[in-house]
Amino acid sequence: MNKKIVISGATKGIGRAIAEKFAMNGWSVATCARNTDELEKLKQHLIKTAPEAAVFITEKCDVSNTEQLRQFAQKINKEWGAVDVLVNNAGVFLPGQIMNEADGQLEKLMETNLYSAYHLSRFLLPEMIKKSDGHIFNISSVAGLQAYPNGGSYSISKFAMMGLSKALREELKPHGIRVTALMPGATLTDSWSGTSLPDNRFMKPEDVADLVWSIQQLSKNTDVEEVLLRPLLGDI
Ligand SMILES: NC(=O)c1ccc[n+]([C@@H]2O[C@H](COP(=O)([O-])OP(=O)(O)OC[C@H]3O[C@@H](n4cnc5c(N)ncnc54)[C@H](OP(=O)(O)O)[C@@H]3O)[C@@H](O)[C@H]2O)c1
Repeated sequence: MNKKIVISGATKGIGRAIAEKFAMNGWSVATCARNTDELEKLKQHLIKTAPEAAVFITEKCDVSNTEQLRQFAQKINKEWGAVDVLVNNAGVFLPGQIMNEADGQLEKLMETNLYSAYHLSRFLLPEMIKKSDGHIFNISSVAGLQAYPNGGSYSISKFAMMGLSKALREELKPHGIRVTALMPGATLTDSWSGTSLPDNRFMKPEDVADLVWSIQQLSKNTDVEEVLLRPLLGDI
């Protein structure tokens, strides 16, 4: 049976680039997002471009809602059993400062950017542990390494994502499951829609996807724990 990857939030941006990369290489892809039209469009696109053996699961699910996430994971566990790669990618960026950002911003960003990764990992790990195999990628950010004045709660959520990744890494060593945290800088996706900055100030989502592809191809003797990627011209 072909290999299987689960990516949260793959209808756009970095998640979509990863879905396309793996599907082109014959992997089955499961993803979730909130917009059902975009999910259907993604599925049709992947069916057209991927080899026939690949299978696609696209489910409507708000990752900040643990019950919806549980149902998404249950479907995967039932239909696929253990997955080979999980990419905790879905996330939102809301600028702000702790002293004056909107009430509830911390909670919203923690639920979407961090708790989603915590719960989805917990829901899918039992099958991966049974197989003693698999790889979890956590998409953090440069903002998870370095705070900046308008980072506010987003930065808190991404520092916490680094904590989740480090804890998983230690726990999963004896189970043969690799864990990698990626810290991308500015990447040209919908998160930046409306920007007046030129394209060359950004990385391409396809480059992040190529990196994920390369890392998971290394032998099981090696775990790439953390990768920091920045646009050639540096942070914005
Ligand atoms: N772009 C950057 O410069 C950059 C830099 C560093 C880190 N990152 C991180 O990389 C990840 C992807 O970012 P991106 O720029 O590729 O984002 P994007 O282009 O805005 O796409 C986000 C994807 O996640 C889904 N999503 C968002 N909120 C969701 C929710 N509550 N439930 C389910 N799905 C949800 C979106 O679909 P729906 O809207 O339909 O739900 C979409 O498919 C995020 O964790 C982000 O923090 C991005």
